[in-house]
Amino acid sequence: MQEVTLDIPVSADVALLWRDDRLYLLDQRLLPRREVFIECCDVQTTAEAIRAMVVRGAPAIGIAAAYGMVLAARDRYARDRAGWREALQADMQILAAARPTAVNLFWAIARLRERAAGLGDGDPVPALLGEAMAMHRQDRADNQRMGGFGAELIVGPTAVITHCNTGGLATGGWGTALGVIRSACQQGKISMVYADETRPWLQGARLTAWELARDAIPVKLMADSAAAARMAAGGVGWVIVGSDRIAANGDVANKIGTYGLAVAARHHGVKFMVAAPTSTIDMQTPDGAAIPIEERPAEEVLQCAGQRTAAEGVGAWNPVFDVTPAALVDAIVTERGVIERPDRARLAAHMAAD
Ligand code: MRU
Repeated sequence: MQEVTLDIPVSADVALLWRDDRLYLLDQRLLPRREVFIECCDVQTTAEAIRAMVVRGAPAIGIAAAYGMVLAARDRYARDRAGWREALQADMQILAAARPTAVNLFWAIARLRERAAGLGDGDPVPALLGEAMAMHRQDRADNQRMGGFGAELIVGPTAVITHCNTGGLATGGWGTALGVIRSACQQGKISMVYADETRPWLQGARLTAWELARDAIPVKLMADSAAAARMAAGGVGWVIVGSDRIAANGDVANKIGTYGLAVAARHHGVKFMVAAPTSTIDMQTPDGAAIPIEERPAEEVLQCAGQRTAAEGVGAWNPVFDVTPAALVDAIVTERGVIERPDRARLAAHMAAD
């Protein structure tokens, strides 16, 4: 993958950038130390960037895949003006194989496939690029709406706990859970954001804290294992997280550690909110047990900051997401509004409403 430095001010708002007929992805693996981009000129590089965690966070993965489809269609059309649509199937499979849990990836591929199917003869790129850009813009707008709905639930001033990264880097902008926190902060409702480090990739330490510090939102980092003690100490009104996939019964897949947070929150009487766009709700997946949970290499746990920390010969279990049962969720917030105490019927009603 080709690393490049762009002559633009770097922020979460430019984490995904279409410029000069290619996709640039701010390399999240290197933040906050280095602010460089990976240049994606074809679908293979885009899929590899998703797989290798250059870009992460469910909505951001979906948007990257949408641009990946544009790159794929451009190449296929240049090679075969009659058979490009057929050939695109193989590229969809490459993208779909990049990561298994975030349903936004599959949602985005399906949306571009449908757009491609509806096109006539001629160059498909302008229409597909228009679709990808519209999805990108829409995600940011949806997050801002979601932020408003979520903020309404919060009685402040209060501290909140968040996990993993759910901000502009992980989305088309503003963020899911971090979007709620940003909106609530604008209303003076947030006294402190406690951000879990989020082992093993440290999304909280490297990404969430980076975003919040840049926005001058008060943030304290804590080890993941400190969260229950922080709740016991008092002053925390909400745990607010995002999601990679929400099943039809309201079970929530999110970064490993989320389930434990939800259990601790219920024990301490702290409310638990999941902020996610409807593109993260997968009505085809009946419940959490059916959500594919990605397992990544053991080395990610056996080391810290590139240094091996475990003794030689030790193995590791490294599922990178877990499932929080719907019964532990007080509210799911989407761009359409709030689903309180989510269950199958409430989710179905929410998804049916426009
Ligand atoms: O493995 P990652 O970094 O892609 O995981 C990201 C998360 O789990 C986020 O919390 C999730 O996508 C929430 S919405 C941005």
